[in-house]
Amino acid sequence: MSPADVAREDAVTAALGKLDLPSKARLLMGQDMWSLPALPEIGLRSLVMSDGPIGVRGRYWTADDPSIALPSPTALAATWDPELARRAGRLLAQEARRKEVQVLLAPTVNLHRSPLGGRHFECYSEDPYLTAQIGTGYVRGVQDGGIGTTVKHFVANDAETDRFTVNNVVSPRALRELYLAPFEAIVHDAGTWGVMAAYNKVNGTTMTEHAALLNGVLRGEWGYDGIVVSDWMAARSTVGAITGGLDIAMPGPQGVFGDPLVAAVRNGEVEESLVDDAVRRVLRLAARVGLLDGVDPVVTTPPEDIDGLALAREIASRAVVLIRNQVLEQGPALPIDAAATTVALSGLAARDARILGGGSATVFPASVVSPLDGLTAALPAGALTYSIGAAPSDDLGAAERGFDLRARVFDADGALLGERSLPNGAVNWLGELPEGVSYDALHTVEVSGTFTPQETGQHTFGTKGFGSFRLAVDGTTLFDGNETLTSTDPFEAFFGSTSERGAIELTAGTAVDVSMTHAPLKFADAPLPAIMFTLAHAEPRRDPDELIAEAVEAARVADVAVVVVATTEQVESEGFDRTSLKLPGRQDELVSRVAAVNPRTVVVVNAGSPVEMPWRNEVSAVLLSWFPGQEAGNALADVLLGAVEPGGRLPTTWPAALADCPVSEVTPTDGQLVYREDIFIGYRAWERAGTTPAYPFGHGFGYTTWAYESIDRAETTVTVRLRNTGARRGGEVVQVYLAPVADSVVRPARWLAGFARIEAEPGEVVEAVIRIPDRAFEIWDEDTNAWRRVPGSYEIQAGRSIAERLLTISYDA
Ligand code: BGC
Repeated sequence: MSPADVAREDAVTAALGKLDLPSKARLLMGQDMWSLPALPEIGLRSLVMSDGPIGVRGRYWTADDPSIALPSPTALAATWDPELARRAGRLLAQEARRKEVQVLLAPTVNLHRSPLGGRHFECYSEDPYLTAQIGTGYVRGVQDGGIGTTVKHFVANDAETDRFTVNNVVSPRALRELYLAPFEAIVHDAGTWGVMAAYNKVNGTTMTEHAALLNGVLRGEWGYDGIVVSDWMAARSTVGAITGGLDIAMPGPQGVFGDPLVAAVRNGEVEESLVDDAVRRVLRLAARVGLLDGVDPVVTTPPEDIDGLALAREIASRAVVLIRNQVLEQGPALPIDAAATTVALSGLAARDARILGGGSATVFPASVVSPLDGLTAALPAGALTYSIGAAPSDDLGAAERGFDLRARVFDADGALLGERSLPNGAVNWLGELPEGVSYDALHTVEVSGTFTPQETGQHTFGTKGFGSFRLAVDGTTLFDGNETLTSTDPFEAFFGSTSERGAIELTAGTAVDVSMTHAPLKFADAPLPAIMFTLAHAEPRRDPDELIAEAVEAARVADVAVVVVATTEQVESEGFDRTSLKLPGRQDELVSRVAAVNPRTVVVVNAGSPVEMPWRNEVSAVLLSWFPGQEAGNALADVLLGAVEPGGRLPTTWPAALADCPVSEVTPTDGQLVYREDIFIGYRAWERAGTTPAYPFGHGFGYTTWAYESIDRAETTVTVRLRNTGARRGGEVVQVYLAPVADSVVRPARWLAGFARIEAEPGEVVEAVIRIPDRAFEIWDEDTNAWRRVPGSYEIQAGRSIAERLLTISYDA
């Protein structure tokens, strides 16, 4: 321990000694949705936590205090660049400090076990090593800035169906080699100050009470000294949680710690020393982030300020994976020569970019650059046309484009209690009501303001939430009725579906009044005051045949056709899994029909996780832009026009069809989800099944070409020499796979054991030096409950994807 660590430990011990049982128990639980109580008697200020992972939302669900929105985690992982992840982390620490947040609820390091996982976009990869490397970079960056991270969700929270109750049955070996591995690496290499316990059970025990994994593995074996916080509302038992190793139950003020914990100690069910251990860890965190008077935080001088928009743009362009780039008569389809090309852009997502995934990962950026905006700015005047072509969905979403809304809260007598601005038609007040409003007094919420349509036609309106609604647009009442609650999911009003309530003819540019009055259902036993409902809207629905025909016509006469296709919030979000990998709506048809008239068709896939692309061999280029964050359009223009090379490589296998996926099940049977595939997920499973995916793990092109010239080895450090054989400077992700020869144990054919990103000028030869960690040669031995090195002959294979291994050298372990 450094002298500063010792000083902090001493201060923590002194502070702990001054607290009585009720204060200690209070400190282990949220005082509201996001914060812990201050204890002025020991000089402790209130600690604030916030989501995470692409930005820092802050305490409120509003756009009043906007956040930088970086690309989503699959995008960050696609950069295969832990240093870039570290810079992202530093920016997030800067954002957290600005918003007076001390702990970021991120990163998410669960694995891509099945492409159906609803929060796939929020996790990094199907590979534990790549996940660990990106996660380590991210955590180092956030903590460089003096802000704590909570690596989540510990552990095996790899799908969303029945996430509060599902029992995931996982072998010890699969747990160690796959699901725990990123957590272990991050604890060890980045020293995270926090871990979040998941909702689900693992092998019969709920994760907030899992003594064997929390106290045994995390603390005991790995020597972790940070806090374990529950996922929100995951803690269910006072005795179970405190004895299982949970330190903080979130949110509050009702919950398993606080008064119930005091009672459990007083009636002899819980040893007070367990409470002390948890409080010590919470105080240690507070000291680390600078909330405990009298001692220095870990970081006294934060790193230099970072330009958030510039970094958002850099990551988004570096993350783009160019998975197909056909060489046509005039050369490769991409990049496009901006000076000499006309471009026909189509796809609703080109105009209404989907920049982030749904759920708790949502943040509200001050501005969004759509692909249409980005290309309009980057191309000469007159070079670009835009047509909608196809919409990912006709579903209603939260009222947004053209709406200017405020919420006002009234009591039962109609007196105004308080008000707040809204980011869009969604009211999501979780434990945080507008100033002056109490949950008891709140009776109705009125969402009102103006709507200035951008399109003439029948606009559809709807509601989401439970209770009574009266909805009027331009003086016409569209709905006056009640919606009753049928589900038991506490977040149903947030994640649930929307009811269509009527349509009205409106004129582009003419503002109309909108008002929705809602008397929400209230629950006496609610763990925290929650008001969640939405005013929903859909633009006029034009004839889909006509939309496609327009786009096809524009594509026919342009030099290049660019089609942006996307998933929606109904497809990729939190609280539910996907049921299909098909692109929603008629987007597949749009691509095929455009490709049929324009031989230079480029498709941009704006999705956080794999989608089926039945047209992929009909088009000349395909690039994955993921959920690219707020600089989406600028980054895309940079890549399409060649200012920046697409730097991404697939962090996860992309299947041709869901049916080909070796592992896809996410639905529990009788409450259990059995991980039958054991250690074979992702490429490990594809190789074993002998099935070829559409695009393999690690795949992706830049704008130059490479010759892999030689490989050498000194012990387990390999040096790969490669030459840039193309005409421009470029970057390459050199991947090293370890393949046992005639294996003595059941193992995958090969696995990722290291990688490095290099850059070179045309003609230049560069070396990638990659050290293979000892762990790559080990398996978890279920008989001895320990790691075991597997001796034997190995091939160390270097290449540009798991399917393109270009150089090999042997090693006897
Ligand atoms: C999510 C967490 C998130 C928390 C707070 C939960 O529903 O699973 O990832 O940090 O909410 O928003």
